[in-house]
Amino acid sequence: MDMPRPTRAKGGFRAFQHPMRVDVSYTYPVHFCRDVLSPRNRLLPNLTSLAGEPGPFKVLFFVDSGVMEAFPDLSEALLCHARRHKDAFTPAGTVQVVPGGEAAKMTTEPLMTALDAMARARLCRHSFVVAVGGGSVLDVVGLAASLVHRGLRLIRMPTTVLAQCDAGVGVKNGINAYGTKNFIGAFAPPFAVVNDSRFLTTLPREHWIGGVAEAFKVAIIKDRRFFSWLSKNAGNLAARDLAAMEHAVKKAALLHLTHIASSGDPFEFGTARPLDFGHWSAHRLEVLSGYTLGHGLAVSIGIALDSVYAELCGLISHSELTAILSALAAAGLPAFSPLLEARASDGKLAVIKGLTDFREHLGGELTVTLPAGIGKKIEVHAMDDTLIEQSVARLKDLAAAP
Ligand SMILES: NC(=O)c1ccc[n+]([C@@H]2O[C@H](COP(=O)([O-])OP(=O)(O)OC[C@H]3O[C@@H](n4cnc5c(N)ncnc54)[C@H](O)[C@@H]3O)[C@@H](O)[C@H]2O)c1
Ligand SMILES: [Zn+2]
Repeated sequence: MDMPRPTRAKGGFRAFQHPMRVDVSYTYPVHFCRDVLSPRNRLLPNLTSLAGEPGPFKVLFFVDSGVMEAFPDLSEALLCHARRHKDAFTPAGTVQVVPGGEAAKMTTEPLMTALDAMARARLCRHSFVVAVGGGSVLDVVGLAASLVHRGLRLIRMPTTVLAQCDAGVGVKNGINAYGTKNFIGAFAPPFAVVNDSRFLTTLPREHWIGGVAEAFKVAIIKDRRFFSWLSKNAGNLAARDLAAMEHAVKKAALLHLTHIASSGDPFEFGTARPLDFGHWSAHRLEVLSGYTLGHGLAVSIGIALDSVYAELCGLISHSELTAILSALAAAGLPAFSPLLEARASDGKLAVIKGLTDFREHLGGELTVTLPAGIGKKIEVHAMDDTLIEQSVARLKDLAAAP
């Protein structure tokens, strides 16, 4: 270990500098499957063997209210699965229902209710929390699990397209506060992720297709071939082809995971946020809509806006812009919202404040990722207000064109 080194501080005082280094590495599996709760499927119980100690372990289930409505027998199926595999799990309480959608993140109440349930179940750091739901419910239950005893073992079972390819596979949790998305949150990798495509079959249209925007996002800035695949299959995706969606989800999830694992900055200490292409305006549009515009649809509009901006800057060609807008349209994703034209009291477009929010959330220098051709990206540290105005006007025309 490095020894403290005496240094001479200003004013002649002696001071000691003690170099401190803590390395922590995380490994977690992300599974893609169908019917994880079928009686002979041992995936969930087998995951507990990764704990490296004998079970059974206490388990507490949290389920999104929307998922519960779509699968009325889910509570019993989860408890039955746990009881069937009693070598692995001991249920520590009844299944907890969490309000689905952004409502889960809008106040601290769902977070406190989840903490209460974990306390009443007397979970310890070796216990498991299994969270089944969309990105919002996973964010709030994940935050609660990261706080109790400074971190419980969390198995995420994402149930929306967006959560299976993005929100549910990463390392972040959080809730909204003080008018800002994800103002309260924590970096806390899960113990494991199980993407069961069967859950996707009951999604309302908006949430079936909304998540595809995150696949477009990562394809446009990282993978030209995947963008071509998405463009060719946009119609199948819009028509609820489950096999096509499974492919899109898996490919997008792997691109997200590869980035998190290999970028060298999984906890976002720096200012680069390459995976947040289209997000500075998307988060702002969500707030401006009073969260009636879902994250996925907002991201689609954010991608379209930044693609037009990139074309105006000469970063992508007109034909590349057309390819992006046509593919979004073919998938049934929106490119424009009248909220883009809303004005703040200073006369500026209200969406522009999204840049300030984005920089504050990240800290340091503003960093926005834009496409530089399809499949490549560039980071810029300023966005021009006049060019944003022009992009909004141009996008409105392009989106209205047949
Ligand atoms: N933590 C992260 O890294 C990260 C990344 C991206 C997005 N997010 C967050 O994720 C949230 C959006 O998540 P989302 O798009 O998954 O939507 P969501 O969680 O808001 O859920 C949308 C709706 O779908 C319902 N639902 C969920 N699964 C269902 C199913 N299988 N069948 C029927 N209904 C179902 C929910 O009850 C809800 O009403 C946002 O708050 C966003 O900020 C987090
Ligand atoms: Zn997103």
